[in-house]
Amino acid sequence: MLYSLLVVGVFTFLTAVFILPILLIVFTLKKVIHGLCTTFAHQSKKGLVMNHIPVLREAVQKYISLGSGDVVVDATLGLGGHASDMAAAVGEKGRVIAFDQDERNLVEAKKRLESYGNVTFVHSNFRHLKNRISELGIDSIDAILFDLGLSSPHVDDPERGFSFMKDGPLDMRFDPREDLTAHIVVNTYTEAELTRVFREYGEEPMAKKFAAMICKRRADRTFESTAELANYLSFLIPKKYQKGKSHPATRVFQAIRMEVNAEMEVLEEALDQAFELLKPDGKIVVISYHSIEDRVVKRFFQKLERPELTDEAKLLYQAYGDPLVEKITRKPVVPAAEELEENPRSRSAKLRAYKKI
Ligand SMILES: C[S@@+](CC[C@H](N)C(=O)[O-])C[C@H]1O[C@@H](n2cnc3c(N)ncnc32)[C@H](O)[C@@H]1O
Repeated sequence: MLYSLLVVGVFTFLTAVFILPILLIVFTLKKVIHGLCTTFAHQSKKGLVMNHIPVLREAVQKYISLGSGDVVVDATLGLGGHASDMAAAVGEKGRVIAFDQDERNLVEAKKRLESYGNVTFVHSNFRHLKNRISELGIDSIDAILFDLGLSSPHVDDPERGFSFMKDGPLDMRFDPREDLTAHIVVNTYTEAELTRVFREYGEEPMAKKFAAMICKRRADRTFESTAELANYLSFLIPKKYQKGKSHPATRVFQAIRMEVNAEMEVLEEALDQAFELLKPDGKIVVISYHSIEDRVVKRFFQKLERPELTDEAKLLYQAYGDPLVEKITRKPVVPAAEELEENPRSRSAKLRAYKKI
């Protein structure tokens, strides 16, 4: 009896002094570790999605419809997501010519695509499409993709000056070899020029007011950083008008970026050259991310669908009135709910695809 009581006593003592605290520590640690793991998993899942999964991946493959041996241009390589699908689709006999004007993206994509021997990397603005392609000894192509705009590394790196959410220098150049920066636009453009930029490229209803106020403030002190400009624009709009809407700087930042990189001018030039390079039955797929960009694409192809509106040069090789392209996507293709959930940055994407006749 005494022996049993002694055993129970010792057991209770050991449990209370050692085992319970140890169990408590283990449970607490487990919870903390689980929490950390979940956070990291969540972040890396997001990072993976944003960095690796290309927008409208399946639709691009469907509409560009590559075959073995095709020569295809990826005009906007980015991190090489679409290019890797293309390299696999055209196979060893085919070729992918991948353009990007941003050297850092090009270097990163090269690493990711190094297992494919059929990709040629071109560090160039796609406005030089025709010249660069002909320098490679190629005179026509089977298909081309434009996945326009920014890539995640641009937005995520404050030093590039694209984001108003993270402070950085007013830069916004896709290609740092170019001279024009956001700093020059914001601090030296006249009020009239700023108004035009904000209206034309940002469809900003407060274009005139923003331009006037920027000029007034910079007479005192120039704008140096993205946060400085974003906060100033935010300060100009009463808080009650800001609720539930995008940040007041959204449209202005988009407009400045488009001006800095001459995006609309470059796009029109490149679409023209792409159309010339395409073989009959060749496909052209364009993903745009805002209405101004989408409108340029839509109008460009509308002219080719109704060639009586196009210039004479194009009519030389097509009977008057015959369409020069066929629309493959009746309506623009947009991301499904699942893609939007995985990659919110795809939310404004619109894909249009055409076939040259
Ligand atoms: C949306 S990202 C492309 C993402 C890519 N499709 C992928 O799967 O990873 C757009 C890329 O096009 C590049 N870009 C934008 N405008 C360009 C231009 N005019 N010439 C060449 N590259 C351009 C940007 O530097 C960026 O890397």
